[in-house]
Amino acid sequence: MDLHEKIPNNVSLSSDRRLQRALEEWQPHFLAWWREMGPEGFQDDPVYLRTAVSVDASGWAHFDYVRMPDYRWGIFLAEPVADRRIGFGDDYGKPVWHEVPGAHRTTLRRLIVTQGDTEPASVEQQRRLAASAPSLYDLRNLFQVNVEEGRHLWAMAYLLHTYFGRDGREEARDLLERRSGHPDKPRVLAAFNEPIEDWVSFFMFTTFTDRDGKYQLLALAESGFDPLSRTCRFMLTEEAHHMFVGESGVARIVERTAECLRAGREPRAAGALDVGIVQRYLNFWYSLSLDLFGGEVSTNAAQFFGTGLKGRPREEERHQDHLALEGVYEMDVYDEGRLVRRSVPLRSAMNEVLRDAYVEDCQKALDRWNRRLAGTGAALVLPSRRFHRHQGTFAGRCFDPDGREIDAGTFERERAAWLPSEADRAYVRSLGAHPVLEPGQFASWIAPPVRGINHQPIDFRYVRSNEA
Ligand SMILES: [Fe+2]
Ligand SMILES: [Fe+2]
Repeated sequence: MDLHEKIPNNVSLSSDRRLQRALEEWQPHFLAWWREMGPEGFQDDPVYLRTAVSVDASGWAHFDYVRMPDYRWGIFLAEPVADRRIGFGDDYGKPVWHEVPGAHRTTLRRLIVTQGDTEPASVEQQRRLAASAPSLYDLRNLFQVNVEEGRHLWAMAYLLHTYFGRDGREEARDLLERRSGHPDKPRVLAAFNEPIEDWVSFFMFTTFTDRDGKYQLLALAESGFDPLSRTCRFMLTEEAHHMFVGESGVARIVERTAECLRAGREPRAAGALDVGIVQRYLNFWYSLSLDLFGGEVSTNAAQFFGTGLKGRPREEERHQDHLALEGVYEMDVYDEGRLVRRSVPLRSAMNEVLRDAYVEDCQKALDRWNRRLAGTGAALVLPSRRFHRHQGTFAGRCFDPDGREIDAGTFERERAAWLPSEADRAYVRSLGAHPVLEPGQFASWIAPPVRGINHQPIDFRYVRSNEA
């Protein structure tokens, strides 16, 4: 592993001068993007961050104080698997590709660009959160997620530069040009154009939207294009931390809420969040994240699977039939305005297969949160996957959170009961009017974590402010 190169990497970058030069040209553009669109403030303050120093499971992480712009963004691929074979689709059993197969070039580039675009987008969405941080511990976690999303962008930019020639370089530049929420040059996917203006949104985003990321990466880790598989396998190790940040963040919010309820206090009177508001934020980010899996019936999904470019999570362990030519998937679809049960060819249902695995995983997170609420009489629920959808079969129609179809008027009348209202957002904003930056102190609406980062105490100075 070359950790002391200008671009740290484990891909022997120095042996390919042209590629190295191209990436060294991209690097200052990346840094300029980070300065412009990365976290607001704290850019010159040492932050207790972990950095990748090796890719093996036994301790790849190194913790130290780093100023964010000095973070060692690099290119790390998981170790190759000897004699790896394509695990699914029409080329099942053939050796994996180490170069881009000509016939699949455009499709593969689109998959990489779509994944790559989400990485800087989330940094842009989260850039104003420091001003309302509930603690130094949380502030550090936010920055850790941000620098790692920056590294994921590097991972995708590396693939584009290495395997797609001139148009790959152009796509890599465009990844730094689009802006989350920009009217003229928005990010590719809708959820990544939604602003994240408060920490409840941040924790819901890292629980639900980063978890979509996990499932996309699991599907791409199966890819017959080996460099993509290896890249995604290493990204998954970083992604796990993002979901930890989200899930434990919501758990700590719920913990505070439960404490109030058990003490017979109204949570808001104690500066905490009531269960209703948590549920509404959950409904919002969960439904937006469901959209990211794409349409229930999809020729693109069938093509991705057939060509061996994007598989199902843990294809080998979880599935017997790796061709998926004969299987069918039962789902509800609209036929002349009526919802009917249909058997869809399995390949065309691959988005739904992936969404099923995701929903199951989300439910486990909810179960863990609900354990914190035990004895309070309150519980959080995942809304129906039909609720508040903008992609696929259920888009353009209205459903209540239980999945019953309703008319648009009813939906609008109930909207404030189901999704965050302006009043909800204002309340959450009021809680974050001032950041909490004293070591060991936490905002009123969130419980301290059970333990600190990397065995450090909870009152550790996770971000050292130079002014202090
Ligand atoms: Fe990522
Ligand atoms: Fe992530």
